[in-house]
Amino acid sequence: MTIRYFSLGRFAMREALSLIGVGAGDLVMLPSFICRDVLASVHERGAKPIFYDVDSNLQPKFLDPERKSKAIIAVNYFGFPQNLEAFEKYARSCGSVIVEDNAHGLLSRDENGNLLGQRTDFGITSFRKTIRTPDGAILWTSRAETQVSAQLGYVFRPKNARNIILNFFATIQRFTNFPLLNWVQSGLKSVRRGLTGSVVPSVDSTVERIIPGVPNPSRSSVKKFLKVNESVEISRRRNLYNTIYPEIIRLGIKPVFESLKDGTCPYGFPVFATADSQSKLSNLARKYRVTLMSWPDLPSEVLPTAPDHYKQIGC
Ligand SMILES: Cc1ncc(COP(=O)(O)O)c(C=O)c1O
Repeated sequence: MTIRYFSLGRFAMREALSLIGVGAGDLVMLPSFICRDVLASVHERGAKPIFYDVDSNLQPKFLDPERKSKAIIAVNYFGFPQNLEAFEKYARSCGSVIVEDNAHGLLSRDENGNLLGQRTDFGITSFRKTIRTPDGAILWTSRAETQVSAQLGYVFRPKNARNIILNFFATIQRFTNFPLLNWVQSGLKSVRRGLTGSVVPSVDSTVERIIPGVPNPSRSSVKKFLKVNESVEISRRRNLYNTIYPEIIRLGIKPVFESLKDGTCPYGFPVFATADSQSKLSNLARKYRVTLMSWPDLPSEVLPTAPDHYKQIGC
């Protein structure tokens, strides 16, 4: 496996598409349940995104071999392994190349012990989502070192003030068990809801076309990533998931995934959050000192016809 580091998963994805040879006018197939900014990786290659729908298990409903794409993106949602069989069948039938989008699934494996993001010829992970770093993503490819552009230079990226403050609150919370970070985060969400009517940061449509910033990773983020104690981090995430599971069931909330299989390193606890479960989830989040997250904005093309389960899923 050849590894290249980037600042964002979107740059790693853009590079994967470039290595596949995706260019002007090509079609790239993505799940319609995707955060809208991922489309920028496709648009920056001059290609056109087309969508396949996923069911409530987050598996593709139907990958139509008549809709021939140059590349197809398979997402391991929340670090849970996507079943790749349907993708492999589709790719065989029309010559498309699979990119394993493992943005959420750092350290996660499938039941056969294969590391997510490395199960196909091209995979990405956005480790900045799992460990607290200002940036950081990985492109993995089975291509040889010599067939891939050299590692981009590292840059110095100062931590932004928001991250410094949140890290400070997180440290206090860890040592005192006082839920300072949770209070600050709920406060920020309330302010945002008051100002914009939504708890999710509002973004304009350019996010679907342009990846912000530069692709170069910062050295400090990569260093922090390389120092992660993998077994400690995996146990911490799995233990938290297993502790919360019975509470979720007791509260009558439906988990997105039936079980936590061997090898899965979950990004969070994905659930179907209906309007009446919101306050139960908030209480649970306070109890376990975790943050509630809604799925970010869907692509503008998908939003008007998005099924209910797309709108309910959060973690
Ligand atoms: C499934 C998926 N893939 C890729 C990305 C892009 O990662 P990044 O924000 O690091 O560019 C995201 C971002 O949320 C995502 O949810």
